[in-house]
Amino acid sequence: MRALTGIKPTGIPHIGNYVGALRPTLELVGDKGCDVNLFIADYHALNLVSDRAHIRERSYSIAATLLALGLDPEQCLFYRQSDVPETFELTVFLTSFTPKGLMNRAHAYKAAIQQNREDGKSEDDQDVGVSMGLYIYPILMAADILLFDADIVPVGRDQRQHIEFARDIAGSVNAVYGEGTLKLPEGRYGKDAEELPGLDGRKMSKSYGNVIPIFAPDKEILAACKKVKTDSRRPEEPKDPDDSILYKLFKIIATPEEFQSFHDRFVPGGMGYGTAKTELADLLIAKFTGPRAEYERLMADKGHLDALLLKGADKARTIATATLDRIRKAGGFHV
Ligand code: ADP
Ligand code: TRP
Repeated sequence: MRALTGIKPTGIPHIGNYVGALRPTLELVGDKGCDVNLFIADYHALNLVSDRAHIRERSYSIAATLLALGLDPEQCLFYRQSDVPETFELTVFLTSFTPKGLMNRAHAYKAAIQQNREDGKSEDDQDVGVSMGLYIYPILMAADILLFDADIVPVGRDQRQHIEFARDIAGSVNAVYGEGTLKLPEGRYGKDAEELPGLDGRKMSKSYGNVIPIFAPDKEILAACKKVKTDSRRPEEPKDPDDSILYKLFKIIATPEEFQSFHDRFVPGGMGYGTAKTELADLLIAKFTGPRAEYERLMADKGHLDALLLKGADKARTIATATLDRIRKAGGFHV
């Protein structure tokens, strides 16, 4: 059984990413029941950032974050997408089996043309600002997955359509070259409850500027926690857990014991919001101080990170080459 997932190297990781993407990925690698591919989807980021220094730096940053949080690179295939060029040959192969109409239905593409309509662009101009990279993003993602015969793909719910596309595309290849040419992957979707609110109560997201970065200095973490939106209840008043961002943050981040202790003091009244904010900051600082030092150590030695990622890519390419040979053979190309 092989599980595979990719992380796009965009932005400095915040605790929303930690809860929604990094923590589940680390748990997956800790699960001895399956082989895991974990890769940094740097070509996917090219649609969003074209500054190469930025992409390189962010890729190192994601790699160092995962390692600092305890990822054991010996327990999985850990690599950068761009170091596995077989991905891109498979992408070209798959384009011939992907109806253009399927890509027209992709959420990200539809959102881009909808935005153009709302901006008053004419019918002829509806594709303005849409690169072919954005348009065929789902095909590249299908290649990432199909290249490794992945059985399961753990991702957020927002990725569901991409997994369905990967299955559709694999099905089209199999219809021509025979069942079993490509393996149809299954999506594994995270729980909705794991969506972390940001400082203002909207989903924590770098695009809303309401984030708490994982590895910020203590002072910055405390300052961010102080900004969490609260109502005007006094310390002795009971608090409404369903309406409290602080409570939700605590619940998702703390261990069950830490959370219970917080709950018992917060909900019935007695704890003021100021104290709750300091406790949240203390919790985050205690959790991330060790990993932060390790992160900084790793980021200071990019050569070591490169060596580690290239070692992972070497191993991944052994599998990728075998799959690609199988596909080239099926397609009648020289092997
Ligand atoms: P952002 O919204 O900050 O731009 P991304 O879209 O780059 O974050 O998300 C990267 C990963 O982190 C995705 O898997 C996404 O589902 C997860 N993620 C981002 N924000 C949150 C959040 N507030 N709660 C849970 N998961 C999140
Ligand atoms: N599209 C995914 C995201 O935005 C990242 C990704 C790229 C991915 N290739 C993948 C995830 C393959 C799982 C499998 O989060």
